[in-house]
Amino acid sequence: MSKTVFVTGGAGFIGSAVVRQLIAETDWRVVNIDKLTYAGNLDSLPGVMGHPRHVFEQVDICDAKEVARLFRDYQPAAIMHLAAESHVDRSIDGPAAFIETNIIGTYTLLEAARNYWNGLPGPAKEAFRFHHVSTDEVYGTLGDTGLFTEETPYAPNSPYSASKASSDHLVRAWHHTYGLPVVTTNCSNNYGPFQFPEKLIPLVILNALAGKPLPIYGKGDNVRDWLYVEDHAQALRLVMEQGRVGEVYNIGGHNERTNLEVVQAICAILDELVPDSAHRPHAQLITYVKDRPGHDQRYAIDADKIDRDLGWKPQETFESGLRKTVEWNLANQAWVHNVTSGAYREWVSKQYGT
Ligand code: NAD
Ligand code: DAU
Repeated sequence: MSKTVFVTGGAGFIGSAVVRQLIAETDWRVVNIDKLTYAGNLDSLPGVMGHPRHVFEQVDICDAKEVARLFRDYQPAAIMHLAAESHVDRSIDGPAAFIETNIIGTYTLLEAARNYWNGLPGPAKEAFRFHHVSTDEVYGTLGDTGLFTEETPYAPNSPYSASKASSDHLVRAWHHTYGLPVVTTNCSNNYGPFQFPEKLIPLVILNALAGKPLPIYGKGDNVRDWLYVEDHAQALRLVMEQGRVGEVYNIGGHNERTNLEVVQAICAILDELVPDSAHRPHAQLITYVKDRPGHDQRYAIDADKIDRDLGWKPQETFESGLRKTVEWNLANQAWVHNVTSGAYREWVSKQYGT
């Protein structure tokens, strides 16, 4: 029988890519645990809902009783923990949900995993993995030069990154104190299909198609290191299956771009792919707006360790990944419309009875 892996946040952007890959490319049985917040969408799982090796459980990771039931019912060999509140701007507007899900939720999972793991027989106990999925934002901000390594001291600057940093520390402590076999990954900015259009890249595509302003915070000179989501999902699987217990792996795309460069690149692709658009050239829609409070200037990842130890390298360049992403958004306007409208919720409950 297939081994079981829990994926929390498996209806979100990165989690759904992980689940789609696990179902398409491996023998794992996947128990997909997601509360279905505004960011969780079951139609990000085409070919997966209804698959015999996929089980969906609509559970809040802060609900200790329900989480304990999941461990009892499904007896997982591993857990990949992605469920989180993930958007920095929302964390500035309302930090409470970030403290709740990212810190208390991670604590709740760790405790349930520890209780379950303590009761496992020898070989299963040794093989068990708790894989915590985190962000490069825990390292704070860089100047013009330098890269984040696994040794960079933590210096989170936003409520989001502080909540993720807290969760990383809890995971580390559960390993150090209780011996729980954990691995942690810290990744740079992801982009690709099924990303909720509150994040820079899908927001700009959506607004450009509608002829709306493309908001650039500050001067547009902040730098992010972009990674195509399918590349991240491959790295996560590798770390879950082969990562060394207690280790941290940084994951990045070697694709540093200023925000202005990113937005201009999207506009150029849209000019080419939508030649009859009334809004061409789309770059005329670029609008400079008030900066994000506490806006980190630059992120860049040194991903040498995961390459050296596990042989992972990203497959997509920024140019190829961005083109695929724009094409996906053009071909999937119904998905974008559903997730941004109240119609989506009604559709989900009709479709899946949740
Ligand atoms: P997302 O916001 O798209 O998805 C998060 C998912 O978690 C949603 O499906 C949501 O319904 C679910 N969720 C939220 N609260 C929950 C709760 N209390 N119980 C159960 N499920 C809950 O996020 P994402 O962009 O896919 O990010 C996934 C993970 O990867 C997060 O931990 C994030 O910190 C991390 N990460 C994201 C990026 C990025 O660029 N998006 C980069 C590095 C790391
Ligand atoms: O670095 C990893 C992180 O990347 C993840 O941990 C987060 O979950 C993810 O949301 C992302 O955080 P960012 O804040 O970097 O992503 P966002 O898409 O919100 O913004 C990217 C950059 O673009 C950032 O410098 C802010 C800027 N921006 C964003 C939006 C939404 C704009 O200029 N205009 C915008 O409208």
